Amino acid sequence: MSGDRLYFRQLRAGRDFARVNPIAAQMVNFVYLIGDRQSGECLIVDPAWDVDGLLEIAERDGMTVVGALATHYHPDHVGGDLFGFDVQGVARLLERVGVKVHVHREEADGLKKITGLSESDLARHDSGDILEIGQQRIEFIHTPGHTPGSQCFLVNGERLVSGDTLFVRGCGRVDLPGGDPEKMYESLTQKLAKLPDETILYPGHDYADKPTSTIGEEKQNNYYLRIKSLDEWLRLMR
Ligand SMILES: [Fe+2]
Repeated sequence: MSGDRLYFRQLRAGRDFARVNPIAAQMVNFVYLIGDRQSGECLIVDPAWDVDGLLEIAERDGMTVVGALATHYHPDHVGGDLFGFDVQGVARLLERVGVKVHVHREEADGLKKITGLSESDLARHDSGDILEIGQQRIEFIHTPGHTPGSQCFLVNGERLVSGDTLFVRGCGRVDLPGGDPEKMYESLTQKLAKLPDETILYPGHDYADKPTSTIGEEKQNNYYLRIKSLDEWLRLMR
């Protein structure tokens, strides 16, 4: 069974790694390690803040990092300049390990600009692409709105790593450059809300009183998934 072999860790900046960084502790980003225990390989989702510390965690678990997944190009997720503060990220990862950064096609140029990576560092993806790691299967779902190339990762059809698109009881901002309220509404209602209710939600930040939820629970309790029409949504978000 792939479930027994699944390696999946949710790590919070400022608590599980980057412990001495007060900004990391304030931003409460989640980083995910996803892999296959038998093959000993894992991917790292949104490596930022303390890449060496993250690699150490994977290594301690006996896992080798074979790739990075980027939910979107904001510096608290992939590194770069955050309000004048230099956040470590994918550029540091590539100094340490020779892997690709998997990014949505529409986010690739922005990612290069923010992180200084070159085209050969990237693997560009479309929605629906599948990445297999050992027996684990990761589907890429394009969810524009927070940024043009935001994407979520559906692991074995059961766990959704949602970046800054969907949070426990919240959703990502649409008022930052590249944000698009209309696309966010479509991503939330036409894509994420259509996943099975039992899908477990793993968001990009620890903003709520608990670190995970389910799609079913969010459909019941998340204000942003309960808005009935695009008109109503746009009135609220603009
Ligand atoms: Fe973001």
